[in-house]
Order: sequence, then C-alpha cells, then structure tokens
Amino acid sequence: MLLDSNHLGCRRGLVSIGRLETGDRKAVREVFDGLSERSRRLRFHGPKPRLLERDLDELVQVGCCGREAVAAVDLVSGEVVGIARFVRSESDPRSAEVAFEVVDRCQGSGVGRRLLDELRSLALDEGIARFSASVVPGNESALALLRGAGRVVESTYVEGAYELVVELEPLPQAA
Ligand SMILES: CC(C)(COP(=O)(O)OP(=O)(O)OC[C@H]1O[C@@H](n2cnc3c(N)ncnc32)[C@H](O)[C@@H]1OP(=O)(O)O)[C@@H](O)C(=O)NCCC(=O)NCCS
Repeated sequence: MLLDSNHLGCRRGLVSIGRLETGDRKAVREVFDGLSERSRRLRFHGPKPRLLERDLDELVQVGCCGREAVAAVDLVSGEVVGIARFVRSESDPRSAEVAFEVVDRCQGSGVGRRLLDELRSLALDEGIARFSASVVPGNESALALLRGAGRVVESTYVEGAYELVVELEPLPQAA
C-alpha cells in the first residue's frame, strides 16, 4: 500500500477511464476495499462491512443487456479507484438506474465527474435519456454529480433518500 499522497495519480488527474470488463471481480473488490465505512453506507444505503459473493456476481454482470459500468484506474499506482454503473429499467428502456463510488483517498479530485461523464456518454449512445438515482440527504457530491449530468426532472423523498430523475444532456464536445 502506497501511503504518500505524491504516489496517488488521482490527486493530480492522472487517471484513465474505461469500461469495466465483464466478470472483473478484482476491480470491484479493489474499489470496495478503498471505501470508508461512511462511503459504503452512502453507496449501499446502510451498513456494508463486506461484499458477499452474490453481490460480486451481480456487480460484475456488465457489458451486456442494459448493464454497463466504467472504471477509473490510477495511472501511477495502477489501482482501480472508482466505478460508475447503470442498469436499464425493464419497464422503460429509455431510463437507467445509476450508482457510483470513488475510493476515499481519491475523492474530491474530479474522478467522480469523469466517471459520470463517461457513463452518460455511454448511456446516450445506447438510447438512454434519463438516469435515476437514490441519494441519501447530505451526500452533496453525489447530488452535484447528478445535477451536472443534466436537468433534474423529478425529486421525491422516499424512505430516507431522495429519488432523483435526471434528463441527460449531451456532453459539451458532442453537442
Ligand atoms: C459521490 C462520489 C462518487 C463523488 O466522487 P468524487 O470523485 O469525490 O467527486 P468529484 O471530485 O468529481 O466531485 C463531484 C462534484 O461534487 C462537488 N462537491 C464535492 N463536495 C461538495 C459539497 N460538499 N457540496 C457541494 N458540492 C460538492 C464537486 O464540486 C463536483 O462538482 P462539479 O463536478 O460539478 O464541479 C464519492 O464521494 C463517493 O464515492 N462517495 C461514497 C459513495 C456514494 O455516495 N455514492 C453515490 C450514491 S450511489
């Protein structure tokens, strides 16, 4: 484990973003291991001390059938430092539910924004027009990420979390 922050590429923008490969359990574990207890609670909406095998089975089912994910790799350490994903809605193929996480040591450095931009681009290419997400009150960076992806067209408070629907806007370079 590298402890010196100079060895964290993510703090200097040295991160590459690409598709998470189907079945990449190592990447999913690596990111989960880098989340604090608080981040895990925010991501999974409750205590999540460990990932179960069945969680991993589900989280690595990507690259097909309306389930996609992108991952951020720190170019200095080679570690996977964040993942963002969507699952297309069965009832409305133009909508998808999103979830995302960045390891604590890289938070606040723009990795989340880069992941969301890439995921949005992928979603738009696949004909998805709206992202929905469930966000715990006070999770300002998650709210900022979603607001930055487009126009919030629904915001309801359900069982302790905001259910947001965002109408996706094209990325600036694609506009
Ligand atoms: C949410 C999360 C993915 C953000 O990742 P990150 O790499 O820290 O995000 P960034 O550094 O790209 O910042 C994202 C935005 O949040 C904004 N932000 C950060 N802290 C903020 C605060 N306290 N108040 C308002 N905005 C804030 C940033 O300005 C940035 O906005 P911009 O891109 O429009 O300029 C990360 O904090 C995380 O993994 N949290 C735990 C898991 C979680 O909450 N997941 C979301 C629920 S599914």
